[in-house]
Amino acid sequence: MNKKIALLPGDGIGEEVCTEAVRVLDAVAAANGHSFEYEKGLIGGAAWDDHQSHFPDATLKVCQGSDAILFGSIGGPIDLAHEPKWKDCEKNSILALRKAFNFNANFRPAKVYPELVDICPLREEVAGKGVDMLIVRELLGDIYFGEHRRETRDGRRVAIDTAEYTEDQIASVAHTAFKAASKRRKSLVSVDKANVLETSRLWREVVKEISADYPDVELEDMFVDNAAMQIIRDPSRFDVVLTANLFGDILSDAAAVLPGSLGLTPSASLNSEGFGMYEPQGGSAPELEGKGVANPIAQILSAGMLLKFSFGLTKEADSINRAVEKSLEQGFRTADIASAESEKLSTTEMTNKIIENLS
Ligand code: IPM
Ligand code: MG
Repeated sequence: MNKKIALLPGDGIGEEVCTEAVRVLDAVAAANGHSFEYEKGLIGGAAWDDHQSHFPDATLKVCQGSDAILFGSIGGPIDLAHEPKWKDCEKNSILALRKAFNFNANFRPAKVYPELVDICPLREEVAGKGVDMLIVRELLGDIYFGEHRRETRDGRRVAIDTAEYTEDQIASVAHTAFKAASKRRKSLVSVDKANVLETSRLWREVVKEISADYPDVELEDMFVDNAAMQIIRDPSRFDVVLTANLFGDILSDAAAVLPGSLGLTPSASLNSEGFGMYEPQGGSAPELEGKGVANPIAQILSAGMLLKFSFGLTKEADSINRAVEKSLEQGFRTADIASAESEKLSTTEMTNKIIENLS
């Protein structure tokens, strides 16, 4: 298979971890008779100096000309957040990309590896029950893309954000989530705030209707406040969690800390044609940039998701997941996941172990 991948490393550690993910992709390609071609695009702060834009047209064209997007991370140091280069950098790049390609479904898996139970922030008897959930977050509706405005009432400032969902938006992401659940443990928890919000009432109605097409998947509705509690109290009870844009933003960050490091969690943003963008759930970690110590696993697993979801290369994707698991089983650790006794591998050394473990 010949495919073209748009490579958008972005800022901070993005460049170094993307380089490692490309080495893994090339090793997988060589072993399976594929060839991947990469075209780089500037995004985020990295695009600002040349283009005074966080998402230049040239980058849009690179993405349009590709079969999938591998994205690193963006954003600068917190103390520089007011500078034009970094102000709204994440929002301008990520929301624009989502909109440009109609990425309406966001997959955010959270898995606690058995070897890493001790770095999960939850007690061992909770984490040890096995945490392996997939949050499917709607990405193009809700309060994110409704009207945002200010007005003045009686001389006082008022801010208004509007939440909106169409039944088609809900149905589309619901189908995606049910399909994912039917290939996993066949349980889907749909999270909403239907005791208060009209968007949530419609959400609940439509999800229930769609569930008729997936009789093998068990559907449960849950209020978002309860879901936040359950993700911390007993995350093992979740398989697939389907939720709206804002709730998904918040719940997926809560779930992302369970594995013990943001360096372990990949993600995928997909449209209904299967075109997708793949990126670590963590940020650009500017404090680690250039030190060669960042954990490449989240980026490598994101590349694995790319092979599976955009190219249908399930066997190759599984070989990446398995190689990561094996490397962890063998005790190899980067600094973020190391215990006091373990040797701390560099970004490149950790990738070397993963490449050796590809079968
Ligand atoms: C995320 C981020 C974005 C979001 C921001 C940067 C706009 O928090 O991908 O979760 O809120 O969706
Ligand atoms: Mg977020």
